[in-house]
Amino acid sequence: MENTEHGEHRFFGRRKGKKLKESRVVLLDSFLPKIRLKPFEKDEVRAADALFPFKPEQVWLEIGFGGGEHLAEQARRHPDIGFIGAEVFLNGVTSLLVHLTGMERRGDVDPDTVRLQDGRADNVRVYDDDVRDLFPHFPDGSFDRIYVLFPDPWPKKRHRDRRFIGPKNIPVLARLLKKGGELRVASDDMTYIRWALQHLTECADFEWTAEEADDWRKPPADWVNTRYEQKALAKGKKPVYLIFKRL
Ligand SMILES: C[S@@+](CC[C@H](N)C(=O)[O-])C[C@H]1O[C@@H](n2cnc3c(N)ncnc32)[C@H](O)[C@@H]1O
Repeated sequence: MENTEHGEHRFFGRRKGKKLKESRVVLLDSFLPKIRLKPFEKDEVRAADALFPFKPEQVWLEIGFGGGEHLAEQARRHPDIGFIGAEVFLNGVTSLLVHLTGMERRGDVDPDTVRLQDGRADNVRVYDDDVRDLFPHFPDGSFDRIYVLFPDPWPKKRHRDRRFIGPKNIPVLARLLKKGGELRVASDDMTYIRWALQHLTECADFEWTAEEADDWRKPPADWVNTRYEQKALAKGKKPVYLIFKRL
């Protein structure tokens, strides 16, 4: 794993993968700027719902959206909700752009014709860097829902401080969630699940909503499979789905 310093935060995952196809470079150059969250000024604080060209009913944040399958599909299903997605891995960001535009499926590399899929509201904003850069710029209670799906597990004990759900980020996630809002975490790594459960249940701002085993063994009704989840299921693993309510 690459170990890079970027912005204020130390990020231990991958920023780039295999070389991008030309069509994806076109997407990055021509389409990403239309939906990209520009870096904020040092002390700037911005209302999350003011980042969209319409007034969204709610704003949901997806942290580490990977290939963007979940984000793109949720955004398609919920055109009245504003979605902010953050992902450090450039190849994942381009994959989201493919899902949002359908561009590669149309075999289309002309930057002038790149547009959102038909019928898709302009309800997605992308931060193509470390989500922790964004946190100080949003007021308390900015989000109705935060997704952290199949986060990098960092299974070794000596790497546990790198786990996204942990003592450093949990109070920030609690601050950013509206009262009654939801934090949704899923993982197929039981060390991570135990760790997340321990730290989230210790936090007085969150309540675990599960009442019976199927509430964490099965995904919620409105679930969209992510790429990592599909890989885990294909290997016969049994992911766990946690929903915590912000008190
Ligand atoms: C194991 S992948 C899972 C991707 C996707 N959620 C899925 O389920 O298919 C975790 C992703 O989180 C991203 N990530 C980790 N820390 C992040 C951070 N601080 N800000 C933004 N993205 C992050 C990584 O780049 C990686 O793509």
